[in-house]
Amino acid sequence: MEEIIEVTASFLDLVACPIFGSLLALSRGLAHRTLASMAWSRDNTQLMALSLGSTPVVVASDPHTAREILTSIHFADRPIKQSAKSLMFSRAIGFAPNGTYWRLLRRIASGHLFSPRRILAHESLRQLECSTMLRAITNEQKQNGFVSLRKHLQFASLEQHHGKCFWEEKSIETVSRVKGGDSCDFVDVLLSLEGQEKLEDDDMVAVLWEMIFRGTDTTALLTEWVMAEVVLHPEVQEKLHSELDMAAKDGSLADADVAKLPYLQAVVKETLRVHPPGPLLSWARLSTSDVQLSNGMVIPANTTAMVNMWAITHDPHVWEDPLEFKPERFIEADVDVRGNDLRLAPFGAGRRVCPGKNLGLVTVTLWVAKLVHSFKWKQDVDHPVDLGEVLKLSCEMKYPLCAVAMQRK
Ligand code: HEM
Repeated sequence: MEEIIEVTASFLDLVACPIFGSLLALSRGLAHRTLASMAWSRDNTQLMALSLGSTPVVVASDPHTAREILTSIHFADRPIKQSAKSLMFSRAIGFAPNGTYWRLLRRIASGHLFSPRRILAHESLRQLECSTMLRAITNEQKQNGFVSLRKHLQFASLEQHHGKCFWEEKSIETVSRVKGGDSCDFVDVLLSLEGQEKLEDDDMVAVLWEMIFRGTDTTALLTEWVMAEVVLHPEVQEKLHSELDMAAKDGSLADADVAKLPYLQAVVKETLRVHPPGPLLSWARLSTSDVQLSNGMVIPANTTAMVNMWAITHDPHVWEDPLEFKPERFIEADVDVRGNDLRLAPFGAGRRVCPGKNLGLVTVTLWVAKLVHSFKWKQDVDHPVDLGEVLKLSCEMKYPLCAVAMQRK
């Protein structure tokens, strides 16, 4: 039976407008858009209070309140159902409650799995998967006269994350415990931990699966959105071609080259703004005590708190011409997307900010650079680009991108 969601503002001291009615759309439609319309139409972007069934929820749709929630120590937990707990989810970084175990996992993530040195050390794997993808795209174009991009991106992404997690068919049972060098994969890294950092086998399995299921789709789907905008905006593609041709004088493009390309970076940022992969930041937070915000509102303990990042990145009070795809805005004013500027925080912010953000950005930027440098992308008349969305774990293109990929010299 479909859940009817009733929205009320029943929280103690919470000065949100009471909203009543059936919000069926929330449970099966584009919740970020429905919630944004509600917030804007009631001029209530700071905080809306709702109840989803018996769960009290607050939604922030402005950068200031979003920062207060995401960076507050009182919102460092995530709501998690009993069923997920029994499936070991609470042993993974994303769902582990704020405490010693979660802090240990975050230390391992920042010090070992996603350290700048480790990301650099995995560049050869990224380049390899990318070359395989480019060859497969060339073949499909020859065969069909157009390319359906998503499966190539998902395959490359899966290979890359799978490669890092289970390279050379290793398994936790069979691998001897080795000391982890910079270039070794996630399994080796986890197995090499010693002393207080050492994890149980079950915990390692939970973390490795999380890396695959969190890392794979987000990276592939974000790249697909970038490429859809590139196909729709030939003038953007032309600028990218000039920038990339200058950078790839000997034909090759490395992470270090693409990191220096301002227009490419701006195109990725503008896509994150227009199509944040987690429009509601994917995973909510849970208040662990009553929290008073700076505007006087009090959020009671055990309230699920969500940030509508999509509403913030589409708010005309925050962004000029928010509906237009204009990468130039990021050339005029640089904006940090890694959680410091809440006008555009697609990776969240605060203690639970996405630990894979640098890896995700490096991968997407390299792929877009190579895809655009290798081909001229055009609309396919039989499969016009449709920017319709569907909200699953991430917000994906409803109709996977198909386009013509013409080989460049
Ligand atoms: C384009 C790529 C990505 C986007 C847009 C993205 C977005 C996010 C967001 C919005 C959160 C919640 C942050 C918060 O609550 O403040 C998150 C958490 C997380 N992400 Fe990502 N992510 C991406 C890539 C990755 C990758 C590549 C990995 C790992 C391989 C990863 C692993 C995680 C984990 C483990 C968490 C949970 C952190 C915690 O609760 O402590 N993500 N991500």
